[in-house]
Amino acid sequence: KIQKIGMVGVGSMGSMMSLLFAEHGYHVFFFDIEQSKMDDTQSKAQDVNLHEYVVGQDSYSQLCKSVSSDSQPRLIVFSIPHGLAGDKCLQGLLPSLTTGDIVLDCSNENYKNTERRQEELRPYGIFYVGCGVSGGYQSARAGPSMSPGGDREAVEKILSILRTVAAKDEGGRPCVNYIGPGGSGHFVKMLHNGIEQGMMSVIAEAWYILTRGLGLSYDEAGQVLRQWNESPELSKCFLIAIGADVNREKDDKSNHVVSYVQDKVVQDVDESEGTGTWTCEEAVRLHSPAATILSAHLFRCASADLKKRMKTEKVSKGTFATKPLQVDDQDSFIEQLRMATYFCFLLCFVQGLNLLRQKSEKKGWEINYPDLLHVWSAGSIIRADGIMSLLQSICSWPRMKPDGDGILTDQTLEKELSRSFDSTKNVVLKAVEGNMIIPAISQSLEYYKYSTHTELPTQFMEAELDYFGHHNFDIRGHGPGEAKKGSHHHEWKPAKGTSDK
Ligand code: 6PG
Repeated sequence: KIQKIGMVGVGSMGSMMSLLFAEHGYHVFFFDIEQSKMDDTQSKAQDVNLHEYVVGQDSYSQLCKSVSSDSQPRLIVFSIPHGLAGDKCLQGLLPSLTTGDIVLDCSNENYKNTERRQEELRPYGIFYVGCGVSGGYQSARAGPSMSPGGDREAVEKILSILRTVAAKDEGGRPCVNYIGPGGSGHFVKMLHNGIEQGMMSVIAEAWYILTRGLGLSYDEAGQVLRQWNESPELSKCFLIAIGADVNREKDDKSNHVVSYVQDKVVQDVDESEGTGTWTCEEAVRLHSPAATILSAHLFRCASADLKKRMKTEKVSKGTFATKPLQVDDQDSFIEQLRMATYFCFLLCFVQGLNLLRQKSEKKGWEINYPDLLHVWSAGSIIRADGIMSLLQSICSWPRMKPDGDGILTDQTLEKELSRSFDSTKNVVLKAVEGNMIIPAISQSLEYYKYSTHTELPTQFMEAELDYFGHHNFDIRGHGPGEAKKGSHHHEWKPAKGTSDK
């Protein structure tokens, strides 16, 4: 039975996970290439009287030696930046690892790196498990949501440890389940972050409408979010709950902290990398129209370059400045905004799950969707009781099978989206009038419309493509419905007497 754990990387997440493991009786031996992080972790352990169980190491080899004495297989947990950092750690560890050892990578790693490392380690008989860990540093301390993927037998060997430390749902069930082979665990965490980004954009846009459009004070906006969080549709939604806190928080001079937060969201490590970017790449490559998620990501990217925005604002001379919204009945408009938020949140999940379905079809992952949703139901950043229980009931296996129809065909979901559609439309109409900035909300509406229509403007696009590119088209009412190129061509003729096309 594993009783010792080697922890590589003790930044904000790794140090908290070290304390969490120790609190549950495991001996944690940790190493980080940054001495300040080592010192910080040691003093945090001291503060909570866990220093005998959380012990710093001088090197990878010392760490492996300390973990080895009575535990087989050895478990080494990573919590490090993605990419090169992981490769370097593995290089450092490899001489001290032996057959049967398990590396559990709890970082936000790209699933492609995970799969590459799994292959590289296979000849040595060393297992590499890619595990999503969600909930930020607070959940890392209290119990995160965990999505391990890789060799099933290796995961089985460590599952009881993960169950001990993972977040628990209301019934006390641990929010960790085996996701699937290969890089599926990290892929699922990447998607989680994509969904998270979509939801965060939606709630930020709703907050903007409340404060800039309707002129609510931060305290009033906080109160609105608190009420939303008690409504059945948005009940116990973590991002709404912390949104209420963000609005209320004051500094020691009694100023609202949110009032002086700059409006730029920069990607931490490298702008061209990160879970948000990878989700968008996957969506584009798989032809999976994750419009809300993509739009939220691009919005975030645009926000990061404040200097550029300052220059272009001068050129546009504030023509598109926001204007207060004129609404007849403020309370009922806020209620519409609540339903619009629900509509968009649902679609963030729909887009994420459909993307996962397409990926697992290609990879043969056979994801158990209710199990996955259970992983996200507590501890994770995207936890939202009302939405999770609805999705749990509709993500049944036949529908989510690779050749199934996906969840947008579900009647229960359709009912929820239809009853919140008009509210979303009215919010978009009003918000556009007031030059509000609503990329994710408006894209959710468009996504739902084009996903559920059989008469799209692309009829005309297809005709133009055939005109100049011999693209071929299907005849309306006759062509096959599948996503295959059409079979019919027409020799389109320029109008007589016209010159330039
Ligand atoms: C979580 C979060 C966490 C976080 C990332 C995103 O589940 O705990 O998803 O992983 O969101 O730090 O950060 P960036 O998007 O800035 O990379």
